[in-house]
Amino acid sequence: MRLVVTGGAGYVGSVCAATLLEAGHDVTVIDDFSTGNRDAVPTGAHLVEGDIVEVADEVLGAGNYDGVLHFAARSLVGESVEDPAKYWHGNLDVSLSLLDAMRRYNVPSLVFSSTAATYGEPETVPITEDASTAPTNPYGATKLAIDYAISSYCRAYGLGATSLRYFNVAGAYGDFGENHITETHLIPIVLQVAMGYRDKIMIYGDDWPTKDGTCVRDYIHIRDLADAHALALDTNRPGEHRIYNLGSGDGYSVREVIEVCRDVTGHPIPAEVAPRRAGDPAVLIASSEKIRSELGWDPTRTQLRRIVEDAWAFTERLGDRSHSAPR
Ligand SMILES: NC(=O)c1ccc[n+]([C@@H]2O[C@H](COP(=O)([O-])OP(=O)(O)OC[C@H]3O[C@@H](n4cnc5c(N)ncnc54)[C@H](O)[C@@H]3O)[C@@H](O)[C@H]2O)c1
Repeated sequence: MRLVVTGGAGYVGSVCAATLLEAGHDVTVIDDFSTGNRDAVPTGAHLVEGDIVEVADEVLGAGNYDGVLHFAARSLVGESVEDPAKYWHGNLDVSLSLLDAMRRYNVPSLVFSSTAATYGEPETVPITEDASTAPTNPYGATKLAIDYAISSYCRAYGLGATSLRYFNVAGAYGDFGENHITETHLIPIVLQVAMGYRDKIMIYGDDWPTKDGTCVRDYIHIRDLADAHALALDTNRPGEHRIYNLGSGDGYSVREVIEVCRDVTGHPIPAEVAPRRAGDPAVLIASSEKIRSELGWDPTRTQLRRIVEDAWAFTERLGDRSHSAPR
């Protein structure tokens, strides 16, 4: 298939673009490098550098594309609270420009990176797709708004689309992994301590109602996530918008993550307990039963140890090219 991957220089987009290329697809990456890295664009992909708002028409108009995988976004929760305009324009405007270009040039199929943040505080765990959506920050709200837009474009214009609501994506795939200037995800931050780029890891609260008092999250391996995108793309149907959660269905506490990282890296990884942060739910675990039963998604890298091993191999290889490495 001829595919456009937006955000293909970012963490998730680069891994998905690499796996799509391996599967024999023709891939064009659109990225403005606002949070992505030039060397993360996989070899073999065509690259168009620019903001989607500026280049979507030119790219989609030139190509007879079969589908778009839309990863590009602003995705820092804290920043979205401080500067919501950056998120409403950077996520919603950008996605509407892309949807309109797809409509104009008859691109029939879309896979969209949605998020667990569309649900907000869970009423029940594990979270299923019919849980109520009440995002607690502008980032989650923009993603939910885009999901609504996609639904109506599917209904009215015959687009076929799937939104995948990721929980905590982690791990790496070969040369592709997390290398953000602003890193907010637990596993890469803990590994930065093991690399000597940070002194310690902060644990925000050890008095939560969980197995060891620290927050519990669901980690999904990036390569299993990439497989779900390929399945979604293969099964999109005109006029239909499907929404699936993507997680492993297992929960690991912050302390368990740190312990596995100590074991894998052989580094003591000092940790310090700090007060709880406002807005952190105690437990976030996905039910991914729907995508397993409807699309046959079968994740094989669900063990936390495997996720950390792959992330560590990538982090060590990245070395000085890490944005966290001392300059
Ligand atoms: N990483 C996670 O754990 C996680 C969890 C839930 C959802 N998501 C979603 O997955 C997607 C990818 O996340 P990520 O962690 O890879 O983020 P990332 O920041 O690593 O990648 C985003 C990429 O999009 C590019 N980009 C952003 N705005 C653009 C624009 N207007 N035009 C062109 N390029 C643009 C950036 O330069 C970057 O390369 C995002 O939509 C995010 O909301 C990620």
